[in-house]
Amino acid sequence: MTEQLIQLVYIVAAALFILSLRWLSAPSTARRGVLAGEAGMLLAIAATLFNHQIVAYHWIFIAFAVGAAIGVPLGLVQMTAVPQRTALSHAFGAFAVTLVGTAEFYLDTPDISRFMMLALTMEVILGGLTFTGSLMAAGKLQEVLPQRPITYKGQNVVNLSLLGVAVAVGAYLIFHPGSSYLFPIIILIPLVFGVLMVIPIGGADMPTVISLLNSYAGLSAAMMGFVLDNKLLIVAGALDGSSGFILSVIMCRAMNRSFTNVLFGAFGQVQPPQARTEERITRSASAEDAASILDSAGSVIIVPGYGMAVAQAQHRVRELYDVLTKRGVNVRFAIHPVAGRMPGHMNVLLAEADIPYDKLLDMEEANPEFPQTDVALVIGANDVTNPAARTDRGSPIYGMPILEVDKARTVMVIKRSLSPGFAGVDNDLYYLDKTLMLFGDAKAFVGSIMRELSHGHGA
Ligand code: TAP
Repeated sequence: MTEQLIQLVYIVAAALFILSLRWLSAPSTARRGVLAGEAGMLLAIAATLFNHQIVAYHWIFIAFAVGAAIGVPLGLVQMTAVPQRTALSHAFGAFAVTLVGTAEFYLDTPDISRFMMLALTMEVILGGLTFTGSLMAAGKLQEVLPQRPITYKGQNVVNLSLLGVAVAVGAYLIFHPGSSYLFPIIILIPLVFGVLMVIPIGGADMPTVISLLNSYAGLSAAMMGFVLDNKLLIVAGALDGSSGFILSVIMCRAMNRSFTNVLFGAFGQVQPPQARTEERITRSASAEDAASILDSAGSVIIVPGYGMAVAQAQHRVRELYDVLTKRGVNVRFAIHPVAGRMPGHMNVLLAEADIPYDKLLDMEEANPEFPQTDVALVIGANDVTNPAARTDRGSPIYGMPILEVDKARTVMVIKRSLSPGFAGVDNDLYYLDKTLMLFGDAKAFVGSIMRELSHGHGA
């Protein structure tokens, strides 16, 4: 393949990556987005194999076999393990980037230009910290490492000083690339920094951290593109870097947290429920009561959350949707941007259960609908429905945009107990007069409502 043809294929691949991101932004086009991304990557790999600089194909094919042997099982993990699987992918990518950067440095010095050395330094520093940071994040999420944040006094100063040393050494190397004895420092310090960076962050904040590490991995790949003079790597790395960054910003906004709070705040610890002086009263109801309320409703908005994912209740929820829709009830779903534990968690689960996309409402679409809705049925969601986010200035979630289920005529909440959710705070919603608590496992309880509907009510 000629050089021009390779570049042409790269342009097509880059266009497919851009279209893929565009299509992935809506559930109705997301499948097409995945296919476009896969086709782009296939073209990119195929064209790269024709690169005239390749000297030994056998190593590439050995690496390909090893990669496939690891990658295929990784692709088959359970949905709830996707965040840690993604972190592992970033770790592998960043490791490869760091190795390539190291090889390029020792092959090209001392003739390396300042610009190349700048790109190479950034490549290796970002690659190194992303490698160990992502391994730590995956370990915390998989619970092979302790989830709780480990903090000590002066931690941020120590961490940032360490990174500062690596950056200073990198800057020196840009002007004196011949001082190759310093190069291992800009590999080793970022490797240590990656570990130290993730230690103070709680396990529950890992999805945001992973998204940020995704951004670093993309940036390091873009830098590698400059070093290797590969335009596709520059484009793909920049897309990866910017989309990861935008996703982290969206997640932080939806949780009403700042970046600094996620990275330095040691949030995500399980806090004991706050002691209250007065006894608060809830009203609980049975599956039979719930079935009769749902049966007589004209409109229902279902609000899924982390508990639905844990219980794997999405298929039962689909059955409930079918039965109620058949009876003329207008059933829709309201999705909060950070419901669950990873971006798009609820969308993926509901898509798996074949819920029609046009029945899914974003938070901005759903909130004006709640006041006209007969029943808001909350299934395993907690923080994303807590009215304290609007009213209680002292609450850790104050200011977080929520699904305003408390504005519906009746609220029903399926969860096993009054235990708090991720943020560790009590939910004011449960104590409203209009709220009925349906205590039980989400899958089992929705199953009981289904049974009541088919046997007891209007069957
Ligand atoms: P949470 O507030 O975490 O609440 C989930 C609730 O599900 C719990 O209160 C739990 O109560 C219930 N539950 C657990 N297992 C259940 C089961 N088998 N059956 C029924 N209920 C069950 O969930 P949410 O409302 O989805 O909010 C997500 C939280 O995670 C937010 O605070 C968000 O900021 C945070 N977060 C999200 C992300 C992303 S990207 N989605 C990333 C990081 C952090 P019981 O134990 O009483 O059953």
